[in-house]
Amino acid sequence: MSQSIASLTRAAPLQALNTFGLPARAAWFAAIETPRQLAGLIAMSEWKHWPRFVLGGGSNLILTGDFDGLVLYVRIRGRKLIVEDDDAWFVRAGAGENWSDFVSWTLERGWPGLENLSSIPGTVGAAPIQNIGAYGLEVTERLQELEAVDLETGEAVVLDRAACRFGYRDSVFKREAAGRYLITAVTFRLPKRWRPVTGYADVARELEARGIAEPTARDVSAAVAAVRSRKLPDPARIANAGSFFKNPVLDAAAFARLMARHPDLPHYPQPDGRMKLAAGWLIERCGWKGRNLGPAGVYEHQALVLVNRGGARGEDVLRLAGAIRASVRMAFGVELEPEPVILGPQPGWVGG
Ligand code: EPU
Repeated sequence: MSQSIASLTRAAPLQALNTFGLPARAAWFAAIETPRQLAGLIAMSEWKHWPRFVLGGGSNLILTGDFDGLVLYVRIRGRKLIVEDDDAWFVRAGAGENWSDFVSWTLERGWPGLENLSSIPGTVGAAPIQNIGAYGLEVTERLQELEAVDLETGEAVVLDRAACRFGYRDSVFKREAAGRYLITAVTFRLPKRWRPVTGYADVARELEARGIAEPTARDVSAAVAAVRSRKLPDPARIANAGSFFKNPVLDAAAFARLMARHPDLPHYPQPDGRMKLAAGWLIERCGWKGRNLGPAGVYEHQALVLVNRGGARGEDVLRLAGAIRASVRMAFGVELEPEPVILGPQPGWVGG
């Protein structure tokens, strides 16, 4: 049985709770298993003045030092089919559910739609924060609504897709409403008239190599998992936080200038006419792939991923990231922005 009020711990170690394995402590820490526990905490008056951070799987997080505030560690479980109609299955999951297990569970039940997002580390509740995306699909495309608690007022709210204001690796939760909500559950709309999304070159090649012309959702999931395991380090084996930088998006004029000098630059047209570049390619061209700076390094199979070679601290990661950023700026005139959430004391360039 869960307690009705979450218990607070002081000076809590966070190293085991972030996939980059960075050492840091939270001045205060509370694990939240039910929305009711959160309500109990919010009713306490003193905590309102503390900085707060909502922690899920810690797989998209860089801790640069101790956090002088309250970490709310989301452990809310549960997943079920709420309703179905002619067009879709509506499936709800608690924010603390493991994302990858949840995707597998939906596929086992015959509800397709999330297969391109297979094997992504982290939790269900964190998925909408950065609008996780991979292999031609972003979570916004399957999200119906989410439930959250407003940490200022304690009020439970329901936000639909429009209210989340999703963008590329972006949402209202990273901008206007940063720190305001704790997501408690997410409801997905999984389409009955399903079509596989296989436009992404790596996935198309993998399906072809497997001799699959008309893939099921589970075939796509298996292909995605295979591609991921070749390119991306498993955080259980090599500590990392996935892509460290966002792929930069340039306006048409800036892109044309760059393309004239680098005709082989991989690029992806955006609906608004701008062009997204492959940051991994830019970083590799600067010679960083497989290199280390102290205990932090650049993954040998994907230059967009920074890894902990053992014993790295936040400052080691930031030093490496700063050096990469300077190289790419010098060589291409492009500014890279960090993709994970950076928490703790920060240097001037972060987020800028
Ligand atoms: N590339 C290189 N060198 C590298 C890495 C990539 O030349 O070291 C080139 C590839 O050859 C390809 C292009 O860059 O032409 C794109 O590479 P890739 O397909 O590996 O994808 P990405 O753009 O580097 C993004 C996401 C990943 C996601 C993949 C697949 C971002 C920041 N990253 O990476 O997401 O899995 O696409 O959809 O958008 C994450 O967010 O943590 C993440 C891993």
